[in-house]
Amino acid sequence: MANEPSSSADPQAIRVDGRATAARVVEQVAEDGRRLTAETGVVPGLATVLVGDDPGSQVYVASKGKKATELGFHSAQHTLAADTDEAALLDLIAQLNADPAIHSILVQLPLPGDLDAKRVIEAIVPEKDVDGLHPINVGRLASGDRRAMVPCTPAGCMILLRDAWDGALSGLSAVVIGRSNLVGKPIAQLLLAENCTVTIAHSRTRDLPAVVRGADIVVAAVGRPEMVRGDWIKPGATVIDVGMNRIPAPERGEGKTRLVGDVAYAEAAAVAGAITPVPGGVGPMTIAMLMANTLTAACRHAGRGAPIFG
Ligand code: GUN
Repeated sequence: MANEPSSSADPQAIRVDGRATAARVVEQVAEDGRRLTAETGVVPGLATVLVGDDPGSQVYVASKGKKATELGFHSAQHTLAADTDEAALLDLIAQLNADPAIHSILVQLPLPGDLDAKRVIEAIVPEKDVDGLHPINVGRLASGDRRAMVPCTPAGCMILLRDAWDGALSGLSAVVIGRSNLVGKPIAQLLLAENCTVTIAHSRTRDLPAVVRGADIVVAAVGRPEMVRGDWIKPGATVIDVGMNRIPAPERGEGKTRLVGDVAYAEAAAVAGAITPVPGGVGPMTIAMLMANTLTAACRHAGRGAPIFG
């Protein structure tokens, strides 16, 4: 259904269709959101905060707000100048924390200049920390506490993985390449919670190809274009490519670029059992899970259990 047979360019692997899976999640969020509003009057509310004028961040934040509006959520975007001082940003966070119409707060990262992302994230009340970056949420995830707000990209990757393995992840060997707070570390926790045997690899890992070759599941989240090669992949493994790297594409014309992942797709697709493309794999899941997390926060605010998405 969500996963389509491969094209002739990648003879073996299933091409994991993140757009179709994300559409399924969004549909469920929309339905559960309508029910929440009908039964309690609570309209889920997302606040996005963008500091500065980075064009990529502007596009991401606008698409998040647009999706929330499409779902009938309340959506508020706050755009601050790049030279905003920390006190002003913390003041805005305090207002959003206190605003009963806002259930989730997303501060787009990275922050420009000297702004301290850690202090800003810690100022968000954990219940509204939709990125799951507050130390309380990090601790809840690590200790298996169901109240954790789970970071959106890792949560989306887990849905793709459960689909690919029909839910049977227990006992599989997983290698996560990358140890960021936003992706690598939380996805390792989620895989561990599914009883995978988890290795977190990073820039200092010795003989990374050999480490990756042992894995049934490979999650690449390093931000290095096409670093993971086809001959690193165990035949039949599932490859989740979190990378989004823009590289020059002179074949498309002067000054043109194209988007590639952290995995050399064509090579890996010839060996893997299933693989996410870039674009169209993990990316759409992130925004879907942002909506899911916003609904989760709104349900909890209304004193209701959170739905399970997948
Ligand atoms: N910048 C890139 N990805 C993300 C994300 O998932 N959340 C936030 N807050 N900023 C980002």
